[in-house]
Amino acid sequence: MSTTRTGVGAGVEVWWVGVGEARDEFVRDLDDVERGRLAAYLRDVDRARFLLGVTLVRRVLAERFSLPAAKVVLDRTCSECGKPHGKVRAAGVELSVTHSGDLAGVAVADRPVGLDVEKVDLGVDVDAVARVALTDTEVLELSGYDGMAKARAFTTYWTRKEAVVKATGAGLRGDLRGRVPDGVQVLDLEVGAEHRAALAVISAERPVVQVHDGARLLG
Ligand SMILES: CC(C)(COP(=O)(O)OP(=O)(O)OC[C@H]1O[C@@H](n2cnc3c(N)ncnc32)[C@H](O)[C@@H]1OP(=O)(O)O)[C@@H](O)C(=O)NCCC(=O)NCCS
Ligand SMILES: [Zn+2]
Repeated sequence: MSTTRTGVGAGVEVWWVGVGEARDEFVRDLDDVERGRLAAYLRDVDRARFLLGVTLVRRVLAERFSLPAAKVVLDRTCSECGKPHGKVRAAGVELSVTHSGDLAGVAVADRPVGLDVEKVDLGVDVDAVARVALTDTEVLELSGYDGMAKARAFTTYWTRKEAVVKATGAGLRGDLRGRVPDGVQVLDLEVGAEHRAALAVISAERPVVQVHDGARLLG
């Protein structure tokens, strides 16, 4: 794992925004499915995170394809049940959306990609989750930490795993205890002390990652 940004390989753009950047006017660009999803959130913060994820995707693709954000066509069909809560898809590009705590982010690439951010949560029963979700090596590494350092290390592992299953599209059905499959590149991304983030790309080569401040797109 590394945060290296040099070398040849798949190019991935990652855009982050803070949850405080959400504004009601963004709703204008949403389609009916997204408006329905937005209306179903009970907590303002969940609403804001979803709205920011949608808005980042729409504005990144709007810029890339020279279209108004509202004209970007997105498909959210779940591969398991057909409801519109699946991995977000658009023609000609690979995407991954994530949100947790104070952050929302989007990865855009030319090959399947998974982005995951999690707020570090001291309240998680790390040892209980570790037994079902971590490899023996990870469990051993975790045993060397306590308190906040342990919560951070656990969250790092967790985001790497989520990034992988989001890249493959398996979601949490995917094998979390297994090693990273061949042909999947995983990198940790730096997002400050409160959160951990990871990116997975289905690629034989190390990706070249460009990280952007999504606030530029929200102005
Ligand atoms: C997908 C999943 C890994 C997301 O993890 P999370 O940490 O809870 O949430 P994140 O904020 O990081 O990711 C949410 C995004 O993942 C995307 N997503 C949803 N399902 C996905 C999948 N199978 N693979 C990849 N991405 C997925 C969506 O774009 C969603 O963003 P949205 O708010 O715009 O809809 C996890 O929720 C999962 O496995 N869900 C499927 C479980 C399930 O039972 N699904 C119902 C089947 S009927
Ligand atoms: Zn479903």
